Amino acid sequence: MELPDRVPRLTARTGLTLRPWQLAGPDLELVRQAAQDDYIPAITTVPRPYTDAEGEEFVRRQWQRTARGGGYPFVIVAPEGRPIGSVGLWLKDPGQECASLGYWLAASGRGRGAASAALEAAADWALHGLGIARLELHVEPWNTASLRTAQRAGFRREALLRRWRQVAGERRDMVLYALHNSGPCPPAQQAPSGGPARG
Ligand SMILES: CC(C)(COP(=O)(O)OP(=O)(O)OC[C@H]1O[C@@H](n2cnc3c(N)ncnc32)[C@H](O)[C@@H]1OP(=O)(O)O)[C@@H](O)C(=O)NCCC(=O)NCCS
Repeated sequence: MELPDRVPRLTARTGLTLRPWQLAGPDLELVRQAAQDDYIPAITTVPRPYTDAEGEEFVRRQWQRTARGGGYPFVIVAPEGRPIGSVGLWLKDPGQECASLGYWLAASGRGRGAASAALEAAADWALHGLGIARLELHVEPWNTASLRTAQRAGFRREALLRRWRQVAGERRDMVLYALHNSGPCPPAQQAPSGGPARG
């Protein structure tokens, strides 16, 4: 499968835009806000504590992910132009028929369904633009906002994966959600290591 070497610009429901990360003030401010969240630094490579140098390094890491064929990290931008969060599509098998997604919003962007709209747009591009057969999400069972986000974007619950991924120094259970096109995919249980790549 031939995949693009750049993160595209996508439009999502409710006037949101998805675009590549930029090494500029508004995106660094987004990383700074994300670094203040209790959970985001534990499931991503968002630096805590935040410094401008670490924030810039985070943005460069996002670019490298795409350059090295690892996936497509997007910034979620509100209708008025403010970056509010991120959604990433991470490629996970050599044939690139399966991928996982991760997402987060800074506190100021929450409560308006932005994550589900952004997730839906990224998933639609992955399935119908890239032709990926199967998309997966891994959500901790306590994370109601994320479980609802997955459901609202059309993902279906498939399994509870016990002790699937290391978070904050301990193995955690994850609920597996998936959305498919047609086509084969190795079962999630046979993946070599637990959990999606960290953004
Ligand atoms: C997960 C996340 C992206 C969801 O975004 P959000 O803007 O908070 O989500 P919304 O406000 O649209 O809420 C989605 C749904 O969850 C519900 N919800 C939100 N917070 C909740 C809570 N603490 N308890 C119960 N339900 C909650 C909302 O009522 C809404 O329900 P609905 O679909 O029936 O309307 C955001 O909370 C976040 O970034 N969390 C930290 C990072 C994270 O957990 N990422 C996902 C990892 S799998």
